[in-house]
Amino acid sequence: MDKSTDDFVQGHADDYGGQLFVWAIAVDTDPGVDDVLAILLALASPELEILAYVVSFGNTDVHAAYENIYRLYQAVGRQIASHPEDKARFPNFSPEVAPILVLGPDGPLEGGRHHAQYFHGRDGLGDVSQSHPDLNVHSEDRSSVFRGNFSVTTKSAVEVVLDLLQSKPKRSITYIALGPLTGLALLLRGHGAVVRENIGRVVIMGGALDVPGNSTPVAEFNIYADAHAANEVLSFDTPERGLPPNRVVLLPLDITTVHELRFPFYVKHIDPTFESTRKPSVASTKSPLVHFSSAFFERTREVMIEFGKDAMELHDIVAIWCALENPPDLTDNDDGLPVMSSSWAVVKRKFAIERTGELTTGMMVVDRRDDPTAYAPGSNRAQVQSLLERHHQSHGLLESIALPAQVETEDLVPPSSGTVSRTGIPCVVQTPGADALLCLLTKRVWGVDV
Ligand code: RIB
Ligand code: CA
Repeated sequence: MDKSTDDFVQGHADDYGGQLFVWAIAVDTDPGVDDVLAILLALASPELEILAYVVSFGNTDVHAAYENIYRLYQAVGRQIASHPEDKARFPNFSPEVAPILVLGPDGPLEGGRHHAQYFHGRDGLGDVSQSHPDLNVHSEDRSSVFRGNFSVTTKSAVEVVLDLLQSKPKRSITYIALGPLTGLALLLRGHGAVVRENIGRVVIMGGALDVPGNSTPVAEFNIYADAHAANEVLSFDTPERGLPPNRVVLLPLDITTVHELRFPFYVKHIDPTFESTRKPSVASTKSPLVHFSSAFFERTREVMIEFGKDAMELHDIVAIWCALENPPDLTDNDDGLPVMSSSWAVVKRKFAIERTGELTTGMMVVDRRDDPTAYAPGSNRAQVQSLLERHHQSHGLLESIALPAQVETEDLVPPSSGTVSRTGIPCVVQTPGADALLCLLTKRVWGVDV
């Protein structure tokens, strides 16, 4: 963590009564490939404490996703068993800070399930359950895998998160969503007031504003997989609904996609023997953790090369990075923007989420009517439109003067699906950069300085 961020976090600790408050995080995740790498980064990050994993459907079905937490903990446990010096590298892999593992939603609020198994494999982890059965966690091994490193519960995800929100200092918890927003929507439906009063910050990986989608031409997967939930969480028209807008930090594809782990870089610095499913990783030739990551990267690499990119996009990893470098801030108020550490920046964007479009489900319909840069200079239709609305003019004469003739006058009714968020949602537009993340990731997860 750079010095400025370190001071930033220490400064915030003072705000919470002087103790060095380790940031608590509830991770709502659909462990797939980038989720697992993101959780490895969280386990290796002293700035935060993982309070719970809410495992959700998404990249694969919820039960397969749940298994991947066990595979991940087994791999870290094997790494520490074979390299005891690495224990210090994973401060969050310890019985002293054992998170709760809870089974979250197994499907969207409405509509059918959309998984991303084409990318993440049936098991959500590049089909390692078939290609590397040594990475599977057998029932007799479970107790050793999570030997106090996490606790399991039969409580619902809503109960677990609610208990946590009410057990820690107000506004000290960051809820980080790495998958569909179903769990967060259910929490808000039942306990919105408690969430708004107690949540510190909500960091969400999801959406696509000014770039193409990755599940459809216009929709990003986490939003597409449950557009109704996203609409309930992200677009609200009164303070009594949804999240406190200035404690939300959204990371859409616009900012996450440019952060990538190029596989030639991984071969050069982490695993010289890594290739793809054509040359499966051999456990005896490398450390347990490198064997684990190489195993689940094999299919990922092949799929990404089909997409024309010999790299993995670090979507969820950027979200964890954002959360650990930008802890909750008690001065976040309803008029401004969330306080961010230096090298990070957010801007507010207004959009509505399409829930039932034949081609546009999950699209973030951006409202550019107030954006003077949306048109060529000199024809700011937003001003003309508000003039029309103000004077309740039918278009007729005024249109021929005010609107450029070639522009169709659209219906003045606001978007039919969803509600444009009243003040806009803070969206990350600047990070310390892709290289900074790569250095942090390789150092913390694999212990390699680059
Ligand atoms: O669009 C990227 C997101 O969808 C990531 O969270 C990835 O894990 C998938 O869930
Ligand atoms: Ca995810």
